Amino acid sequence: MRISVIGCGYLGAVHAACMAKLGHEVVGIDVDERKISELAAARAPFFEPGLDELLKEVQATGRLTFTTDMASAQGSAVHFICVGTPQKKGENAADLTFVDAATAALIPYLSPTDVVVGKSTVPVGTANRLAGVVQEAVPDAHLVWNPEFLREGHAVSDTLQPDRLVYGVTDGSEEHEAVQVLDTVYSVPMEAGTPRLITDLPTAELVKTAANSFLATKISFINAMAELCDAAGADVTLLADAIGMDDRIGRKFLNAGIGFGGGCLPKDIRAFMARAGELGADQALTFLREVDAINMRRRTRVVELTREVCGGSLLGQRITVLGAAFKPESDDVRDSPALSIAAQLQLQGAVVTVTDPEALGNAARRFPELHYEASTDEALRRADALLLLTEWREYRDLDPYETAAKVSGLKILDGRNVLDPTKWRAAGWTYRGLGRP
Ligand code: UGA
Repeated sequence: MRISVIGCGYLGAVHAACMAKLGHEVVGIDVDERKISELAAARAPFFEPGLDELLKEVQATGRLTFTTDMASAQGSAVHFICVGTPQKKGENAADLTFVDAATAALIPYLSPTDVVVGKSTVPVGTANRLAGVVQEAVPDAHLVWNPEFLREGHAVSDTLQPDRLVYGVTDGSEEHEAVQVLDTVYSVPMEAGTPRLITDLPTAELVKTAANSFLATKISFINAMAELCDAAGADVTLLADAIGMDDRIGRKFLNAGIGFGGGCLPKDIRAFMARAGELGADQALTFLREVDAINMRRRTRVVELTREVCGGSLLGQRITVLGAAFKPESDDVRDSPALSIAAQLQLQGAVVTVTDPEALGNAARRFPELHYEASTDEALRRADALLLLTEWREYRDLDPYETAAKVSGLKILDGRNVLDPTKWRAAGWTYRGLGRP
């Protein structure tokens, strides 16, 4: 099948490469020339495990090309819209400029029976509106919504082996013409047993925002428990293990720490609240305000705890922050709790050094005022206190004895609760976790 993928960021670049891997002939289109020239040279413009290798593999088959020219979408039977929907500046709502622009730019190149497939995360109601726009311009073309559930760091496997496929179609029916087209696109994962659900357009949009809201709620729930554990002298990691053994609850996404960040969960819960307000259903989502508030409180808590660990004042304290990305296996620093904590500490008088295996370039662009050090050894040198804020494997594996020989002060704050407190304390460290005694 010939497919176009419009928008080649985290979602689109991975989607384009994976569609080519599934055997389709794919053109990836983006307005950003730098991104396109990187991708055309089979280099991922961001860090995503396995993506460089996949780009090389599929580009060698000739099935994947990249261009800035929207006219190249002409002749594709399926057009995936994969552009970003960031938070609007100064508001909670999602900014749909890119989705609207991509759809408008595509329309002149659509043929009757083409299928436009929205994958971006949008406020409920957007797909119906865009379906109207497409229908008016090309009456026999279709617009469907097919939300994406990939996680950064696992994007390639999540796309090639998704845990479910959701198709939102205008009439919500299995008989809709676009269903067969998408089944052909996804024939490989479907044959491997991936379940697929057919819904109407608003349900498909809501599936995505509901899923991300649930995940955010789970994280904030356990972080609220961490606050209680701190107050009561209990251990949130054991509490999570114990409640997680109930398979109605499950252990995944119950890791207490500095909270969630990234380009998705924070902005998605805010956009969801804003949209609920527009629909007159704001009461239904007031709990998400609390989810957001608990999450943001984690950052303040870590700053306060660091001050405490440093003996009551941050002034002049040399603090090394291990991790800048919003999570490991990613170079994404959008709304990264690690970086926001680092910036707060610096503002309050600490001398902060930030290190990260992949995210320093992005971090320096976002917070140029912070000091960055690529080598972990150099970053550790003469630190008065360490903060582990992104749980990259290399930080989880630090040896407390070897690390002790490199730093000035044996104080560590484990913002992700991934170190063994007994081992670190035995090596002479003052260890503090979050919600751990
Ligand atoms: C999230 C969803 O998990 C994906 O299913 C979804 O497709 C994606 O958003 C999206 O909307 O595109 P992602 O942003 O890549 O994926 O990151 P997550 O793995 O969900 O992690 C989000 C944040 O939660 C990270 O900062 C992570 O450190 C934090 N987290 C996660 C915790 O603090 N505790 C946990 O137990 C789990």
